[in-house]
Order: sequence, then structure tokens, then C-alpha cells
Amino acid sequence: MVHTDIPANDFSSLFETIEDDPDTYLTLNGVYALAAGRSFYGRIFPPESLTLAWSAIAVHWISRVPMPIHGHVYSPFATGEVRDAFREQSAADWRIFLESRAAEMRPGAEMLVVGGANRDDGQSGAEPLMNALDAAIREEVSAGALTREEYDHMSIPTWNRTLAEFTAPLDRADRGGAVGLRLLESDLAFAPDAYLAAYREDHDAHQFGAALSGFLRAFTEPSLFAGLMRTPGARTAIADRVYARVAEAATADPEAMETLWHVAVLRIAKPA
Ligand SMILES: C[S@@+](CC[C@H](N)C(=O)[O-])C[C@H]1O[C@@H](n2cnc3c(N)ncnc32)[C@H](O)[C@@H]1O
Repeated sequence: MVHTDIPANDFSSLFETIEDDPDTYLTLNGVYALAAGRSFYGRIFPPESLTLAWSAIAVHWISRVPMPIHGHVYSPFATGEVRDAFREQSAADWRIFLESRAAEMRPGAEMLVVGGANRDDGQSGAEPLMNALDAAIREEVSAGALTREEYDHMSIPTWNRTLAEFTAPLDRADRGGAVGLRLLESDLAFAPDAYLAAYREDHDAHQFGAALSGFLRAFTEPSLFAGLMRTPGARTAIADRVYARVAEAATADPEAMETLWHVAVLRIAKPA
């Protein structure tokens, strides 16, 4: 079993889980835990070495921000040429992802991709949460802690593909082999909001706000705040205020913050 992620990923917590979790696969005979610290937008494995590939909630991270999204931090709110640039970057990345895996998979091997997705209308399901985050950052601009230019360059490097964007290179493969992989099944689903489900049980709005904001911070803080020219302490202080504001907004109206992440589920094969 080879786990892959970008070089900066915290592989220690992954390996601690594999070591200590009661359900670890390490109890199975002949299964060994390895890791490769390389982006999946390129080759990771030797040719024709993969028998089964799995990727979950990761391919919506694109390789770079092609243009700053003026007026919001989240790409579903991008318009015009910025929106086009994100869509094009995403298409180029997805093609490289598929071509790389096509070279690495054995003939007859399968790959499952569960990818953050957009509906055909361009919505991801996370718009209320991302609006709260954007509003919280703008308050730092109003208070003079961030410049407008800094805000303009704060963009989360994600693009949620529609199902059609996911399947386009695979459809072409059916008609003669653009990437050498075949789509066996595809579906657009959504993940229920686990934080809101807990709130509906315990009615603890503070717990809901803190948990949702902590979850959001875990995946957005590095890309939004790491580029600010500040001391680490000053950067953290800004981020503390921003995520505290998101927690406050979520606590004030949990139902309004419902987040239904859309996911594309793809079963892909390399023809035998
Ligand atoms: C939401 S986590 C999902 C982790 C794991 N697959 C799971 O299901 O628990 C998204 C992961 O994608 C990783 N990621 C983002 N861009 C990547 C890239 N270009 N290559 C490989 N991994 C990437 C992030 O570092 C992060 O660990």
C-alpha cells in the first residue's frame, strides 16, 4: 500500500494512525505501508506497477492559482476571464493526472476517484461557508490589518469540476484513446453535513461553530495566509481573528451554514 501526497504533507500523523488504529490493515498478511511525497499531477510510480488506485477528496486542489480571484477567495465565485483561467488550469491538471495514472496502471487495473465537484450550475455546496470566510477576511481589510492588494491575492487553489469536466478526457478515450483509460461508472453525489447533523442532535451552537471553523481552518489557512509578508506570530493573529469570526457567524445561525459538498464518484479502468 503506497500513500501519496504533496511533499509538505504531514505523513507522521498518517503513519501513527496506520500504526495505532485498531482496524489497521497492517494486521493483514503481506501488506506493507509505504509513502511517496510527490504531487499526483505528474508521475509517481514505475510504469505498469499499480493494480488498484484510489483518490479521495484531493483532485479539486489544482497545481497553482492561475490568476487572483478579485472580490472573493473561492473559485466558484470567480467570473469572466478568471473563471476561464481556473477551468483551463483544472482541465490541464486533470489530463496530466489521468495520463500519469494511465502510464502507471497495469493493463486491467482499476482506479476509483472521489473528487470534490460542482453541480452544472457551478455551485459546490460550500458557498455559505466560503462567503462567511470571505466576509471575515474583508473585515481585516476594513480594520486596516490587511491591504486590499493582499486580499486580492488570497485565493484557495481549488476548482470543483463538473461531472462533464471530469469525464470529458475519458469519453474521448472511448472514441480512440486520448488518455488510454476508460470510464466504467460515474455519479454526482453529495456528502451530508456531519457538523450540522451533530448540532441537530445536541443543539450546541458553540460546539458547531468551533468545529466547523476548525475544519475550515485546517484546509484553508496554509493557502490563504502563508503568503502574507508578516512574522509568523502576526500571520497567526490575523488568522485567529478571521476563523473566530467564522465560528461566530456559524454559531449565530447553524442552519444557514449548511455545507453539502458535492462529489464526483468515478470508476476508471485501463483496458486489459
Ligand atoms: C481532504 S484531504 C484527503 C486526504 C485523504 N485522501 C483522505 O481521504 O482522508 C486532501 C489531500 O489532498 C492533498 N493534495 C493536494 N494537492 C495535491 C497534489 N497535487 N498531489 C497530491 N496530493 C495533493 C492535500 O495535501 C491533502 O492531504
